[in-house]
Amino acid sequence: MSPAVQDERFSDTLVFFVNGRKIVDSSVDAECTLLTYLRTKLLLTGTKLGCGEGGCGACTVMLSRYDPEQDSIKHYSVNACLTLVASVHGLAVTTVEGVGSLREGLHPVQERITRAHGSQCGFCTPGMVMAMYALLRNTPRPEWHELEQHLAGNLCRCTGYRPILDGFGTFCNDSNIGCGREKCCRLSATNGDSYFPPPITKDCNGFMQNGSCNKEEQERNEALGAEANALLPKADLTPYDPTQDIIFPPELKLKSHLHNQSLKFQGPRVTYWRPTSLPHLLRLKCHHPEAKLVVGNTEVGVEVGFKNQTYPVLINPCWVPELNAIKYTESGVVLGAAVSLARVQEILQEQVLLQPDWKTRNFSAVLEILRWFAGQQIRNVASFGGNIMTSSPISDLNPVLMMSGATLTILSHEHGERRLTMDQNFFTGYRKNTVKPSEVLISVHLPYTQENEYAQAYKQSRRRDDDIAIVNSAMRARFVPGTSQVEDLRVAFGGMAVTTVMAVKTAKALRGCEWDEALLERAMALLLEDLPLDASAPGGMVEYRRTLTLSLFFKFYLSVRKWLAARVPALAVPLRADEESAIAPYQRPPFASTQVFQQVDSSAKSHQPVGRPLVHASGYKQATGEAVYVDDIPRVEQELFAALVLSSRAHAKILGIDETPALREEGVEAFYCARDISREKNQLGTFEPDEEVFASEKVTCVGQVLGVVVATDPAIARRATRLVRVDYQDLEPPVVTIEDAIKQESWWGPWKIAKGDIDHGFESAARIIEGEMRMGGQEHFYLEPNAHIFVPKGEDGEMDVFSSSQIPSALQKMVARVTGVSSNRVVVRVKRVGGAFGGKESRILGVAAPAALAAARLSRPVRITLDRHEDMLITGGRHPFLCRWRAGVTTKGVFTALDVKLYSNGGYSQDLSPIVMHKAMMCVDNAYRHSNIRVTGYVCKTNLPSNTAFRGFGAPQAAMFAEDIITTIAHTLKLDPCQVRERNMYQEGDSTHISHTLERCTIRRCWEDVIAKSDLHIRQHLVQKFNKENAYKKRGLAIIPTKCGIAFDRVLNQAGALVQVYTDGSVLLTHGGIEMGQGLHTKILQIAAQVLKIPIENIHIMDTATDKVPNTSPTAASISTDINGMAVMNACKELRARLKPFIKRNPAGTWKSWVKEAYMERVSLSATGFHRIDEVTDFDFETMSGQPFHYYCNGAAVTEVEVDCLTGGHTILRTDIVMDVGQSLNPAIDIGQVEGAFIQGVGLVTLEELRYSPEGSLLVRGPGAYKIPGFQDIPCEFHVSLLKNAPNPLAIFSSKGVGEPPLLLATSVFQAIKDAVGAARVAQGLGRVFRLDSPATAERIRVACQGPLLRKIPPAELGSKKPWSVTV
Ligand SMILES: Cc1cc2nc3c(=O)[nH]c(=O)nc-3n(C[C@H](O)[C@H](O)[C@H](O)COP(=O)(O)OP(=O)(O)OC[C@H]3O[C@@H](n4cnc5c(N)ncnc54)[C@H](O)[C@@H]3O)c2cc1C
Ligand code: FES
Ligand code: FES
Repeated sequence: MSPAVQDERFSDTLVFFVNGRKIVDSSVDAECTLLTYLRTKLLLTGTKLGCGEGGCGACTVMLSRYDPEQDSIKHYSVNACLTLVASVHGLAVTTVEGVGSLREGLHPVQERITRAHGSQCGFCTPGMVMAMYALLRNTPRPEWHELEQHLAGNLCRCTGYRPILDGFGTFCNDSNIGCGREKCCRLSATNGDSYFPPPITKDCNGFMQNGSCNKEEQERNEALGAEANALLPKADLTPYDPTQDIIFPPELKLKSHLHNQSLKFQGPRVTYWRPTSLPHLLRLKCHHPEAKLVVGNTEVGVEVGFKNQTYPVLINPCWVPELNAIKYTESGVVLGAAVSLARVQEILQEQVLLQPDWKTRNFSAVLEILRWFAGQQIRNVASFGGNIMTSSPISDLNPVLMMSGATLTILSHEHGERRLTMDQNFFTGYRKNTVKPSEVLISVHLPYTQENEYAQAYKQSRRRDDDIAIVNSAMRARFVPGTSQVEDLRVAFGGMAVTTVMAVKTAKALRGCEWDEALLERAMALLLEDLPLDASAPGGMVEYRRTLTLSLFFKFYLSVRKWLAARVPALAVPLRADEESAIAPYQRPPFASTQVFQQVDSSAKSHQPVGRPLVHASGYKQATGEAVYVDDIPRVEQELFAALVLSSRAHAKILGIDETPALREEGVEAFYCARDISREKNQLGTFEPDEEVFASEKVTCVGQVLGVVVATDPAIARRATRLVRVDYQDLEPPVVTIEDAIKQESWWGPWKIAKGDIDHGFESAARIIEGEMRMGGQEHFYLEPNAHIFVPKGEDGEMDVFSSSQIPSALQKMVARVTGVSSNRVVVRVKRVGGAFGGKESRILGVAAPAALAAARLSRPVRITLDRHEDMLITGGRHPFLCRWRAGVTTKGVFTALDVKLYSNGGYSQDLSPIVMHKAMMCVDNAYRHSNIRVTGYVCKTNLPSNTAFRGFGAPQAAMFAEDIITTIAHTLKLDPCQVRERNMYQEGDSTHISHTLERCTIRRCWEDVIAKSDLHIRQHLVQKFNKENAYKKRGLAIIPTKCGIAFDRVLNQAGALVQVYTDGSVLLTHGGIEMGQGLHTKILQIAAQVLKIPIENIHIMDTATDKVPNTSPTAASISTDINGMAVMNACKELRARLKPFIKRNPAGTWKSWVKEAYMERVSLSATGFHRIDEVTDFDFETMSGQPFHYYCNGAAVTEVEVDCLTGGHTILRTDIVMDVGQSLNPAIDIGQVEGAFIQGVGLVTLEELRYSPEGSLLVRGPGAYKIPGFQDIPCEFHVSLLKNAPNPLAIFSSKGVGEPPLLLATSVFQAIKDAVGAARVAQGLGRVFRLDSPATAERIRVACQGPLLRKIPPAELGSKKPWSVTV
């Protein structure tokens, strides 16, 4: 250490405040994140860990910092998972616990998200609350666009976002939640009873083009059946009073030394320095050239967390004044390198407003790019300099900085200052640049543009919000004054090479040219030369990325032409009206939504809650962070942590496993693998024992469990897994894709369903049409990763298990088997699950088994919580499917025969794949009649992780294929797809292809209702008109019906319940279902309250536990309320019957008095309930007989989309849904399920793409790479109605299951996109019959749109190279 550095006085004590409490820590670990500190040291578990990489927002907290210069306090949201606790010295941290609580009172943010039904599983809720709270602390009455901007970094997998917007929208200045009309009655609606929101007029439902909310209409509507809207009556919300918010700790204002203090924290592996002056910083960097500077830690944090990087020395330069300075010069603005991106936005925005338009075009380009840069939490801390210095080839800022000719000031202790221009020479390789290790980037000079210059920036990503770019670009053209002749051109691209690149040849060749068609043509050819891309380039999408370079330049060309036409009209051709759409900036229309449902009789008493839109029973707890999830359970004495050693090969023999290096690590207690367990106990599998707890002889997929390390700390355990050496010998090349499997006949099955005479059907057909379609898989992406705790109880092999599982009884059985005891020694408890969707069913067994074994062997509690990457890798997902079909049809498009072959990619083991395939085969008719049909199903056995149950269980794939077949038939025959659908659609009494007679069939009612509500026919004309008037944007419209069968296998159609009444009148209820966000417990409470005739508040559900209700069925298949609700009802009826004599004896008595009397008379106050569905039998594929479904759920949706034909981006403009949920038990929950399932389906069919390497390794393992829908991906207008007057006598209180069926309606989005692409193709003289696989990503849409730019791209020749990814 140089004396200069030693001399400086560095404090080793961290001081900060959390929720007003002062924390002083002299032994802080420099590596520790704020999230870990909050959760494990301060036991503030309201802040959640969803991903650990800044991509989900579940860990959002607010930081507050005093700015002595401006004497003001800045509040900003951050991701605690990426914030080092060392970096919050002198700051105040507010977590969800500090905002409000059930005891101290809820904050309006917490109240409103809950009352708007915006919390289902609740795992995202604290993060949502904090993002909104931070916004309000700065802007008590935000604008709508600010709300959208501040929530973009938060993901929710359950709600579909609408209710969150609905709740938070009430804080906005221009809240437009309602039907979109200015005087919408919803905005002022209340009748003072939160159960009964006021009825709504038809106009207000937003379904009519004209009209207004008026009393007359309202009365007419009430007479028709009292439909209600407005799930959130606005008038009785607690007003927001900013003065009541938690105050900034006065000490942090007074003790300025905290701000000026230099810090040094020495951890066991990492030293953290915080210098506060430039000389300090430079000397430190000189002394530690290998040190990482950390500002926002948004890049370094991810490298450490997920890329196994270790940086022993970290230097935080944030408190060095020069790195935060802003200077305004003659030529532009100089921004300190540590200035946050959010601050950059503010500064440049100010300049854009202050300066003449021409001067700030570079600034506008930066602002345009920052609009789509990450989420607010990241922008609040990520630095300008950090983005440049990371030198990522897909950096969003670097193309703009290169285009604008930004200059960098670099300083080092030894060599002083130098200036660098950001040009083609700045980046020297993948994540490398010309700045030396001992140098520090001090500031960036961003120049003004000249009057004769035009600049623009573009970004194309998979998801519009919070996503990294596929390709980004920035372009600037300078013209000889008064002419349209190019004086200078700078064009920079990201995503086209290992660095950001400049199209140097293109720019040089075009200098001096006129801005006309000839220039455009030359530019296209030159860009292709400048920007080659190897067919095997990392990131894939080679043809698409190359097309994007041309498309983005084309957009720039048109924008410049328009600008020139205004400046030098005689020299430039103005844009045609139909060209305008190519350059219009993306502007999302204001959000509007309605929810319509049938009210229960308003004279019903408060103990008759069935049918009312009650809020989720745990909603308020979830919003305050008080709801406890598995990993929130405090650590117990002696607890250990397990981490899994996973296979890195897809198909290889295991030659040896050497754990000695891992065992040497301090804190590591044990390692177990196949050597430590008998062959019999090592077996695992749902139907077949075709899996192992630990792979013993060979591995058959990447991510298979080889062993488990147990240590005193989760980070130690995880690090130690990397030290376990595994020797492999590769076996035959892995089977990865469905096509590979078909070639090798590697499958389970086939199974066949046949009806009628298919040969005759084809013979009698007027046309025979065939096709093929693929549908990709889907990751469950529940926000709460897998977590389980195993607590041995010290005698008789007893063990308590706390789990985030939706299948407790199977887990109990597995733990008993692996630990060598009978099931009666193991109790599995599940309080709540932060989302599951089928992913926490059978696949959790392989995650839990190794930790259970370790707990039993060590006789110590063991906890296992997967990180997001492990969870995605291990637990499989929805099956990718391939469908090959051949249809015989009449000239009117009516089926005479259909032969369908379905192939799914099952992965390396059977798991639930056969029954997922069976369901797909049984649902492939969707809503259409077939007299002659043959369906064959194959589950392909591949070397991928085993795929499993996922909401819909094969039905979504079946519906997608059924609808694509219909569309293809319609377009082949040049018929209207809507008519073809109607001609084939089932009606009452029809028999399905599995000989199920349809009774009370509501398909046509839903269909007709949604046509009327959506004004389908008028809008079809409007879409045609739009498409005629616009060359580069096209709209598409589709209407889709659905029919989804509800039931489990015969055996699983059973459930039990235990209801216990205590002498104080309180009731403890337990049933076999799991609360995983879907509102099951809320509905069950409603049922119990209604049957017992007591207020809902008297009843409590503690958890689901295998010692209360044994042998439970998984919570799945949309049937949990049906079976558990009936079991609860039976138990409650029994109790009510036992109380009857006491009620009769004392009719004026109270519930409590009757209960007490019964107790005194020694009457049992505990009852079990049981229910089974007798009508359902398993389908026998030999005899084609059986009744696999109890009843069907129907619905219909109309969706309209807009597609950008140049980039492939799309926007869902509007969706209308009519869903039959029978007589709703709780319309708020049912509508929440409809919306949530629909948006999950939108992700499936548009965004979510699981990319695998040719070697079978999952390439997308977190929210950074795998995109689920965000706030901006939902329809701009979203209208949901529950079908009126449709009681279902087959289920509890005439209701229907709702969890899965609405997901199928996302097919309407896919078909609307296909319709829009069809319009683009027709405009070029191409046919409407074309193949589009799902998901309809921007890449697939762009390629399907075709067009002259795409045709310029030479085919990508792979030669001997392998592609980066394959479609599995
Ligand atoms: C969820 C998420 C979303 C993201 N989205 C985007 C996106 O949309 N577009 C995009 O381009 N990027 C994105 N990123 C990447 C990242 O946020 C940016 O690169 C950010 O600007 C990095 O800044 P930082 O301050 O956090 O860097 P840090 O992680 O603190 O540092 C990054 C690197 O820069 C070096 N460094 C920092 N300051 C200096 C300096 N003054 N002198 C020398 N070296 C320095 C560090 O040593 C380190 O190597 C995203 C990241 C996350 C986690
Ligand atoms: S856990 Fe921090 S953003 Fe996901
Ligand atoms: S409620 Fe948002 S993730 Fe479950």
